[in-house]
Amino acid sequence: MTQDLGFSKGLAGVVADSTSVSQVQGEEGRLIYRGIPIEEIAEKSTFEEMTYFLLRGTLPNKAELDALTMQLKAARTLPKHVETVVDAAPKTAHPMMILQAAMAALAFEQGPVKLGDVEANVATSVKLTSQLATVVARASRNRRGLAPIAPKQELTHAENVLYMLTGETPNKDSARMFDVALLLHMDHDFNASTFAARVIASTEANIVSAVSGAVGALSGPLHGGANEKVLAMADSIGAPEKAKDWVANALATKAKVMGFGHRVYRTMDPRAKVLRAMLETLVSKQTDTKAKATYETLRIVHDSMIEELSKKEKDYIWPNVDFWSGALYRLMGIESIDFTPLFAVARVVGWCSHIVEMWGDNRIYRPAAKYVGPMEASIAALEKR
Ligand code: SDX
Repeated sequence: MTQDLGFSKGLAGVVADSTSVSQVQGEEGRLIYRGIPIEEIAEKSTFEEMTYFLLRGTLPNKAELDALTMQLKAARTLPKHVETVVDAAPKTAHPMMILQAAMAALAFEQGPVKLGDVEANVATSVKLTSQLATVVARASRNRRGLAPIAPKQELTHAENVLYMLTGETPNKDSARMFDVALLLHMDHDFNASTFAARVIASTEANIVSAVSGAVGALSGPLHGGANEKVLAMADSIGAPEKAKDWVANALATKAKVMGFGHRVYRTMDPRAKVLRAMLETLVSKQTDTKAKATYETLRIVHDSMIEELSKKEKDYIWPNVDFWSGALYRLMGIESIDFTPLFAVARVVGWCSHIVEMWGDNRIYRPAAKYVGPMEASIAALEKR
């Protein structure tokens, strides 16, 4: 019996599963992590605290937070074989591809999956979170022809990531801004890379292998790769006074402007607001005229896009998290090509939290397909084709 299976392209609006890890409230422009608004998290929390909260569902007390912090620090080094895989990558390899390969190599050590062993799965997730950050830093240093930097154990996770990337211990303001940027990127309900992680883990494949697949999904320019493209766009525009015309041309040619639009948000992405405020604080202290010009170019693109889209009755297209993140990271001394890997440094916690949650009541993802091919066919003889 062939049913008429309707379907929604890109699974738009399709409820694929339930989750309590986070919710994107598209109409209101709100994001909550297990009920807590992202603005409160950005103001009060830390990467370590939210790692515990997202993975376990409760806020840690002091002893629990200290233990989590120690677990992250204990896993800041890589197994030798993973260092070898990272170091073997050609200089031209995109760091997201190196990261995906390194995660697959990290999975060499994974034993059989025990869905019900929450403690083991959380421990694997915390260790992986730390190791993934070290892979990102090592690959970045290799690409730039610089020696890898050993972690500094007295530093927080955010501080240590910046330290292993730049070789300098960040000042408290930069460290806090980077910690907030990581907090903003940790989870976002069923985005493409999280859904990819869930599909892979739903087969009872191991967490590390699922994260390797999620890294591949995040690398695409329609998803995590957009922040790198936003800075390339600003650099290609070249000067603030050219930005308005650039927007008019982009919209006239139906180009997709990176850092704008979202499947769920129908208003400003709340994360973009927080990122922009931090960026404006950093820019106000800048003496570097190029940095100020880049911000000004982005500001004009931002405002012109909103103005032009509302004229075209496309006022459901707004800036998303990727629009401002790159400009902030650049002011922290991070190269554009490392922006998406930094997205993964944060989102790995969300990927793992969804897997741990899903394994509490797992069923393999296997959606139906609407077959549109021929129903009757046969193999014609080769000489008759
Ligand atoms: C992230 O899912 C998540 O939550 C993702 C994320 C997370 O935290 O995990 O929030 C992170 O990935 C943010 C998005 C980063 N990507 C970009 O900035 C790339 C540019 N954005 C677009 O490619 C697009 O908006 C998507 C991919 C984000 C959403 O794609 P949809 O929902 O499939 O929307 P669509 O491509 O079908 O566009 C709908 C309409 C189209 O116009 P019409 O054909 O209906 O006339 O909106 C237009 C599009 O042309 N449109 C844009 C646009 N995005 C959509 N027009 C101009 N510029 C854009 N950026």
